[in-house]
Amino acid sequence: MDYYYAPGRNHLFVPGPVNIPEPVLRAMNRNNEDYRSPAIPAFTKTLLEDVKRIFKTTSGTTFLIPTTGTGAWESALTNTLSPRDRIISFEIGQFSLLWIDQMQRLNFDVDVVSSEWGRGANLDVLSAKLAQDKEHKVKAVCIVHNETATGVTNNLAAVRRVLDDCGHPALLLVDGVSSICALDFRMDEWGVDVALTGSQKALSMPTGMGIICASPKAMEAAKSAKSLRVFFDWNDYLKFYKLGTFWPYTPSIQLLYGLRAALDLLFEEGLNNVFARHARLGRATRLAVEAWGLKNCSQREEWYSDTVTAVIIPPYINSADIVKRAWNRYNMSLGLGLNKVAGKAFRIGHLGNVNELQLLGCLSGVEMILKDVGYPVKLGSGVAAAAAYLQHSIPLFASRV
Ligand SMILES: Cc1ncc(COP(=O)(O)O)c(C=O)c1O
Repeated sequence: MDYYYAPGRNHLFVPGPVNIPEPVLRAMNRNNEDYRSPAIPAFTKTLLEDVKRIFKTTSGTTFLIPTTGTGAWESALTNTLSPRDRIISFEIGQFSLLWIDQMQRLNFDVDVVSSEWGRGANLDVLSAKLAQDKEHKVKAVCIVHNETATGVTNNLAAVRRVLDDCGHPALLLVDGVSSICALDFRMDEWGVDVALTGSQKALSMPTGMGIICASPKAMEAAKSAKSLRVFFDWNDYLKFYKLGTFWPYTPSIQLLYGLRAALDLLFEEGLNNVFARHARLGRATRLAVEAWGLKNCSQREEWYSDTVTAVIIPPYINSADIVKRAWNRYNMSLGLGLNKVAGKAFRIGHLGNVNELQLLGCLSGVEMILKDVGYPVKLGSGVAAAAAYLQHSIPLFASRV
């Protein structure tokens, strides 16, 4: 028996890794296979094509790489840029900060635009910097679409507008780790050059696959990019794409079948319905937070995230105690506050294969925990606010009417 055993399912409400739905679990429960067998190329080809739909691209080239979001970052940077290349990036929370740290360690020259955590990327500063850069020394703008540490979503259409208004040719590299497959993402329309995500987030798979998409412009840049890369070199993939065997090294067969099942579920629900479900989950969570008299770390409605809500708690409570109590009394997992908001915020992840009643269970747990740690909340207040909204906004399942 697992030492940490608790009955029922763990209420997994961290903002990734998320719950894996049964059809995905079942699809992965299989033996290893020879990835050089005649069955795998056709299967892989369809996956590489179908995965384009989650990026909303027709012209992109997709890569399924055994890695996590962090490796996908490295793949995006090293395949398109050369050492000392100038990048503009935004520090708005822990994950944007970590990506910037990676850029610096990879020897890029990073111009960091910082905002108070809880605010979105400062696009006025971006605009001023790009307008000044007459010689086009800036080679890339890198941005985290959804900052998972603070629950802030950046407006990518607005970023594209800034680049276009300045007539600036910099590449646009986007971390979509906690947005893609949950928030609307339009790679072609927004002129994103590299977009990436990790399998354990809104795709609702196990960790271990980086899903990356490169625009024709990014593929062109890759031809002259001089950054040292070996494991993440897109050229190795392209060689095998040409040969029609697809894999330069051993893929996880189980994850490939998992991806097939995960994509099938998303397409069956319909991507727009998936986004609408996340919008409902986000709104319901925010209504509960408001009813509890607490603040969203995300400072403005325009930045509110529909995949994660970071909740600021009063200074006399340590948010780590909330996360600990969730685990040791209610069999629930909530996200810790990270770095600058450590102790001050806890996070509710509402992304991936999760529904409204699961969320209400989580919110009811949070209420009890808030009382446990000494915050005067009326039990049921947040749940009532969320339920009153959800009751009128959840559509019928088309297949069940
Ligand atoms: C927005 C964002 N980017 C990158 C990462 C890093 O991904 P990974 O932990 O899969 O390396 C995370 C992880 O939570 C994230 O939320």
